[in-house]
Amino acid sequence: MLFWKDKQNDKPAEKAAPEAAVTAEVAAPVEAEEAKSPESKKTIKIAVLTSGGDAPGMNAAVRAVVKSAHARQDVNVLVYGVDHGYNGLIEGKFTPMGLRAVSNTLQSGGTKLCTARCKAFETPEGVKQAADNCFNEGINGVVVIGGDGSFRGARDLTNAGIPCVGIPGTIDNDIGCSDYTIGYDTAMNTAMRMIDNLRDTAQSHDRCNIVEVMGRHAGYIALNTAIASGAFAALVPEKEADIDRDIIDRINFVQGTGKKHFIIVVAEGVGNIDEISRQIKEKTGRDTRTTILGHIQRGGSPSVRDRVAATQMGHRAVELLCSGNGGRVVAMKGEKVVDYEINEALQMKKDFPFDLLQVASDVSI
Ligand code: F6P
Repeated sequence: MLFWKDKQNDKPAEKAAPEAAVTAEVAAPVEAEEAKSPESKKTIKIAVLTSGGDAPGMNAAVRAVVKSAHARQDVNVLVYGVDHGYNGLIEGKFTPMGLRAVSNTLQSGGTKLCTARCKAFETPEGVKQAADNCFNEGINGVVVIGGDGSFRGARDLTNAGIPCVGIPGTIDNDIGCSDYTIGYDTAMNTAMRMIDNLRDTAQSHDRCNIVEVMGRHAGYIALNTAIASGAFAALVPEKEADIDRDIIDRINFVQGTGKKHFIIVVAEGVGNIDEISRQIKEKTGRDTRTTILGHIQRGGSPSVRDRVAATQMGHRAVELLCSGNGGRVVAMKGEKVVDYEINEALQMKKDFPFDLLQVASDVSI
């Protein structure tokens, strides 16, 4: 079966013979002598999957894995896409990905590999089945693009003998070890544009529009989109709000100065926006409407930031697996790409920018 592009002439190369493919371990760094001629190069097989909620930029990360693998000079790397996250590993759904498999995918939202939240992978039987399928296919390492639940799966699979490298991919930006997660920027920009639209109608009707944004248990999207859209208030799960003091008293105060429309951005982790809406209407006399932005925030073409971060992190994941470093998570520390041992990564916490909440409040009236 022909599926891999030869670097020299860009023609498909023969699939590696089974004996060239290896054991449960990622290939050790290739010695200089071995790298001298293409014939003597080692071949390793990397699988890549996307897991959990899709996020814009996941395709860019997969593309970076495929292209970076192809660019390796020291080792032949064969990449396999796994269908629907860990479900595909359990069902043994590996598809060889040559260079052209990722053509025209950089700019597309969603995940072309498809994704799932896989309950079966939370069981030892599920992990064992997935590991057995990887052994049978000769897979030496797996790149897992997803959130912290997906990284726990990657840790379990690593412990079962298949070294994994995680890449943070979630719109929520809620991964403790990474300052940034793939999809976050695009989701915020989508939410900001939607809130801009809400402002038009809020202003036209002198209303208070309360808008719920995603983020699971985190308020990063809410805080930043509130600032970016000039919202009157941002409610986030990281800081409990007093609705009377933080919203109602302030609305009543500024209504006296002539302000007639209000945008309140609420993170989904805060709770029921209908109840907040009811209280505002009752205690301020201002007509209210609620909007849940929902899954619209997950789609769309990834932003520059998401495409670049996804590409950087996909490239690092291949570097790690090719140098024998499985059981790690790639992360962003500021603008730099870093990586951590996977258990350490899962323990890490990052600080919520409470100072930005104060900024949001100070510029909101
Ligand atoms: O983690 C990403 C996210 O979009 C969260 O913001 C949200 O809470 C959740 O996924 C929604 O999940 P689902 O797609 O299963 O409805």
